[in-house]
Amino acid sequence: MQCIVDGVVVTPEAASISIFDLGLLRGYGCFEAQRAYGGKVFRLERHLDRLERSAAALDIELPRRSEIAGWVREIAAANGDCIVRLFVTGGYPDEPVSPPRTFAFAESVPEVPAGLRFLPLAAPWHPGGVSSELTGAKTMSYAPNLRATREAQHAGFDDALLYSRDGDLLEGPTFCIGWFRRGVLETPSLDLGVLASITREAVLEAATGLHIPVAEGRYGRNVLAEADEVFAISTVKEVTSVVAVGEQSFRPGADTARVADAFREIVATETGT
Ligand SMILES: Cc1ncc(COP(=O)(O)O)c(C=O)c1O
Repeated sequence: MQCIVDGVVVTPEAASISIFDLGLLRGYGCFEAQRAYGGKVFRLERHLDRLERSAAALDIELPRRSEIAGWVREIAAANGDCIVRLFVTGGYPDEPVSPPRTFAFAESVPEVPAGLRFLPLAAPWHPGGVSSELTGAKTMSYAPNLRATREAQHAGFDDALLYSRDGDLLEGPTFCIGWFRRGVLETPSLDLGVLASITREAVLEAATGLHIPVAEGRYGRNVLAEADEVFAISTVKEVTSVVAVGEQSFRPGADTARVADAFREIVATETGT
């Protein structure tokens, strides 16, 4: 498995950055997780757009976009079906000054359970509709997200499903959520500070292509009591049925399967797989 650090191809053993880097010390940095199908990255340009927004929000200077794109493509091409992780750290601002560091590597695509089980958890740290400078930025400060995942896993669930201080349904620590209610595909709107997920965007296109009505909005966490089908959305999970949210159970359904298939068709068309 090859890694690229500041444009140099190195082995995993040789891939390192300073312990003084602000990415490590303060979580000051940004990242992307991209999926390669048959060696081709799905919607690389959209990922790079989001990386640029994240870096601008953090005031971190990125290497040239064409260079970053080349590194990601190189790793994808060498690994076929994989997740390409890309990070840009804050660097080491004191003497000797180190500029932001950029590194990328491939991970194998993890096995995702066919029916996911989520524990609803309050996320008081989440913007939840109150915007700040960093809302929407995919920064390296993921400690609250990881903690929520661990709490859910300790309680026997696959992951957490987060809701805001106001009780609005938001997203998971690393995925978006959607559901079908009375034939409409509903999902929390981006103005809640939910990450502008690349997969979510493609899934909404897929649903629109199938003439399925789509609604983005603010929904109280109890909305799922009226949902017929629930599904998780992300680069890693693609479209995966949810079979439990806390005490509530759901069946994987035909509407989710149709949207998942249409999403895969978009992927196949764009990646030539
Ligand atoms: C908080 C959060 N929401 C949603 C997503 C899904 O985004 P994408 O479809 O771009 O993977 C992620 C991905 O890492 C995430 O971290």
